[in-house]
Amino acid sequence: MADFTYEIEDIGLARQGLKRMDWVRERMPVLRGIKEDFTRTKPFDGLRIGICLHVEAKTGVWLEALTAGGAQIAITGSPGTAQDEVAAALVAEYGIQVFAKKSETYEQHLDYAARVLATGPNLVADNGADIHMLALTNPDFSTAKSKIIGATEETTTGGFRLREEVTGHVFPTIIINDSRTKRIIENRYGVGQSVVDGIMRCSNLLIGGRRTTVVGYGYCGQGIARTLRGLGAHITIVDIDPISRLEAHTEGYQTADLEQALPPSDFVITVTGRPNALNRDHLALLKDNAVLCNAGMFETEIDLPGLRELSVESNQIMPDIRQFKLENGKTVYLLGEANSINLSAGDGNPIEIMDLGLSLQCLSLAHIAMNSRSLPAGPQNVPVEIQNDVAVRTLRAWTRS
Ligand SMILES: NC(=O)c1ccc[n+]([C@@H]2O[C@H](COP(=O)([O-])OP(=O)(O)OC[C@H]3O[C@@H](n4cnc5c(N)ncnc54)[C@H](O)[C@@H]3O)[C@@H](O)[C@H]2O)c1
Repeated sequence: MADFTYEIEDIGLARQGLKRMDWVRERMPVLRGIKEDFTRTKPFDGLRIGICLHVEAKTGVWLEALTAGGAQIAITGSPGTAQDEVAAALVAEYGIQVFAKKSETYEQHLDYAARVLATGPNLVADNGADIHMLALTNPDFSTAKSKIIGATEETTTGGFRLREEVTGHVFPTIIINDSRTKRIIENRYGVGQSVVDGIMRCSNLLIGGRRTTVVGYGYCGQGIARTLRGLGAHITIVDIDPISRLEAHTEGYQTADLEQALPPSDFVITVTGRPNALNRDHLALLKDNAVLCNAGMFETEIDLPGLRELSVESNQIMPDIRQFKLENGKTVYLLGEANSINLSAGDGNPIEIMDLGLSLQCLSLAHIAMNSRSLPAGPQNVPVEIQNDVAVRTLRAWTRS
């Protein structure tokens, strides 16, 4: 067995982390049911799972189900999204190798992903494809690659990367985000609620009556716009896809190019899954006192080096608010350092939503553990039987009286 290494902020926070997990576990009935099944069937007996997913309480409850199924686990998260107390609980109470700190930088995050891969996982559960990129494109990890029998990838962005940037797939990867179950329920309703919650929590600003631009009208963008509209915001949608733009228009939103949308906007939210959705030239168009944030997977949706170049001064004025004084005389505010705002300034997607999303993860990982030899290598959708099973279990749990 590999050495039991870990890197977290403070192991002394474990009791707090357990309390957080108690609150969450009570509200995740689908995962609790799957944990009972896994306790009997042990689909991961003798297998190591290497994970990259936000290290927070809901993830912790998911890891309980995987360990009940016999897995040994190493996990890292994403910059700015770890709950340090949960990281401590997972190490101290569950013997899970955690490499995550709320304060971690992107460079540290990549180092942590490498350390998870170095534990020699047989299954990988990835978020943004960082572990995949190391395993599939970096020859230093060829031994680790040879041990992997299959993987899951959680996100839209990770799915793009695996399809567009990788050719040498040697194991199957189930893209959780490809499932209708996740896209419709989690991305639209879960992200829709939690992103707006994150903005409100860290800024304490009014949404009603404010001009707001949402850049990207996919599943997440639709959900965010829907919640903002419910609060009375005046919304403009920017999307490079003409059909998405038409859809937004038909739904009753203003649509525009960034050049028209940005100058009057009080809030600007990116959620495209693509780098540089807002580039340096766009950032120069922002209104004085505009508030900017990202809900997509990576902070690169906003050209942060460009924003720094445009600035004469940058100040951290509150925990999740950074002020930039621009050379054009305007001041703009960036929330959560452009990390996914629902996680960096809030608690991520609602608990019930992640009960569904992480149940898809559980059953997909078990499916790979049992069938890896018969599955084709490369990205593929969640089997429809698993999607339906999770939808049935969730609706049953949500409608139980
Ligand atoms: N914060 C969270 O909890 C969370 C949860 C799920 C997904 N995500 C992330 O949110 C992002 C969006 O996910 P999604 O499922 O909505 O994706 P999606 O593919 O459904 O939608 C993305 C939309 O952005 C548009 N787009 C792409 N590039 C653009 C650009 N440069 N300018 C304007 N529009 C552009 C596309 O045309 C598309 O309509 C991804 O990075 C995904 O990983 C975040």
